[in-house]
Amino acid sequence: MHIKKWAGICRNVMLWVLPLFFSLSGGQVLAQEMEDCMECHGDSTKVSKVPRIERETGEVKVVSMLVDKDAFMHSAHGLSKEGFTCTDCHQDLSGVYGEHAALLQPVDCVTFCHDDPGASYLEGSHVGHMKEKEKEKKRAPPTCKECHIGQNSMRETPVKDDPFHRGQINQMCSGCHEEYKLTYCTNLHGQLASLGYCNTDIANCSDCHGGHEILKSEDPASQVGKKHIVETCNKCHKGADQKFVKHIAHPKFKRPELYKDLLKALKDRDLKKIASDPQSYLMLIFLMYMGIIGFTFTAFGTHSLLMWFRILQDERKGEDGHGH
Ligand code: HEC
Ligand code: HEC
Ligand code: HEC
Ligand code: HEC
Ligand code: HEC
Ligand code: HEC
Repeated sequence: MHIKKWAGICRNVMLWVLPLFFSLSGGQVLAQEMEDCMECHGDSTKVSKVPRIERETGEVKVVSMLVDKDAFMHSAHGLSKEGFTCTDCHQDLSGVYGEHAALLQPVDCVTFCHDDPGASYLEGSHVGHMKEKEKEKKRAPPTCKECHIGQNSMRETPVKDDPFHRGQINQMCSGCHEEYKLTYCTNLHGQLASLGYCNTDIANCSDCHGGHEILKSEDPASQVGKKHIVETCNKCHKGADQKFVKHIAHPKFKRPELYKDLLKALKDRDLKKIASDPQSYLMLIFLMYMGIIGFTFTAFGTHSLLMWFRILQDERKGEDGHGH
């Protein structure tokens, strides 16, 4: 009986107290490591002495070295169950305590942690397109950190539903696809997004096209290709079918500069092309609509103007009649 009781107590210690002890001390080591860094990086007066240079604009900047621990804890890595410490990412500082070199290695997202999404992005055809354009000195392809940037720092990698991140993705895509951004904003999705509603309800560029593997819509494997478009719209529009997805995502009719294809087809009498493109129906209907409105207002205006002259004339005649 006595032995059994002691065995029970021992087992309880093993089962409850030891793991608790280890997890607490593990947490403490973790916290201690962060505190080491925060001793300086919690100080709002610290700024970089060596200026940082913005990659795209070449702008020279003085960056604050203040780390907002709360914002970090609410970011994708802070929320993760693994409990990241500073040196998991700033690996060149592991084992370094106190003062350190001013310029560190940029954090490498791919090598140690994200080789899967890294590969799907870096080996995708879209990055290939971007690189071709880069040669023409247009824009460099965005890096992992530029798309997954937090509101204050690249360190605060947002979770995927973060409205700021979703708005940022729209902006990132629009930087290279101005025409598609303008036409997206002609649509209800884009109108809502440009009013600042960037939550997960409203489709941003990546909800339809994807984030890492972006394919042409003609490619059946594309998220907006024949095979997957119903599924893509169904994420938000339950019950969407083949008919629903005929909706035009990038209507051109409100932008005069996008009429050139239609004008060319009209000039070449290419009726087949006009008939096969739903955009041309929209454009023609819009032109007719504007024509009718224009005609109505001109006719109405001229009519009113003539009536007005007539009334004036009649009044003057009446006054003249009074005088006699
Ligand atoms: C003794 C104070 C001090 C401590 C402790 C400290 N830092 Fe720093 N850190 C600085 C200062 C000052 C700068 C700005 C350097 C400059 O621009 O001159 C800086 C810059 C940085 C930068 C930016 C480097 C770059 O290339 O732009 C990172 C990242 C960084 N620290 C991370 C850490 C991490 C992680 C720890 C903990 C392991 C840590 N620091 C501990 C003072 C400190
Ligand atoms: C998930 C990875 C990650 C973790 C964890 C992380 N950082 Fe960073 N940090 C970055 C990235 C990315 C940058 C942007 C510069 C770069 O590309 O290296 C950065 C930049 C910085 C800078 C430069 C100022 C700035 O905002 O650009 C400082 C200072 C810094 N980190 C300190 C810390 C401290 C202190 C911790 C721990 C509390 C920490 N970091 C944890 C990824 C991380
Ligand atoms: C053009 C913008 C863009 C670039 C560049 C980019 N991503 Fe993404 N990434 C996205 C979008 C959009 C998603 C899907 C939704 C989300 O999580 O934001 C995503 C998703 C992810 C996810 C999954 C998040 C989850 O919760 O499932 C990881 C991890 C990731 N990206 C890492 C990377 C890495 C690593 C790189 C660099 C090699 C990179 N991304 C480059 C836009 C981008
Ligand atoms: C750095 C510039 C750049 C950025 C940023 C960019 N793209 Fe592209 N994208 C291109 C280039 C270049 C092409 C090739 C076709 C062209 O010249 O328009 C392309 C092609 C495409 C295509 C057609 C696919 C194909 O294979 O031709 C789609 C769809 C697309 N992009 C959507 C997006 C979306 C969505 C985003 C944001 C997540 C985005 N792009 C961000 C430059 C960019
Ligand atoms: C509601 C879903 C949806 C949203 C949101 C959306 N697109 Fe599209 N996008 C499409 C569809 C469907 C097509 C193919 C038909 C067309 O061209 O209108 C397309 C075509 C394109 C093309 C031409 C290449 C191709 O694959 O045919 C580009 C580039 C593009 N979109 C970029 C963007 C950008 C940039 C945004 C965000 C500003 C965006 N799209 C938002 C559905 C969408
Ligand atoms: C991320 C969610 C999301 C995705 C994905 C999405 N939509 Fe929408 N869409 C919305 C929201 C929100 C509205 C606003 C009105 C509403 O609640 O229906 C809307 C409105 C519309 C409307 C206006 C008519 C209406 O119901 O008021 C059409 C048409 C439409 N979407 C078509 C599409 C098509 C086609 C696709 C796929 C290519 C698509 N949407 C993908 C969220 C989405």
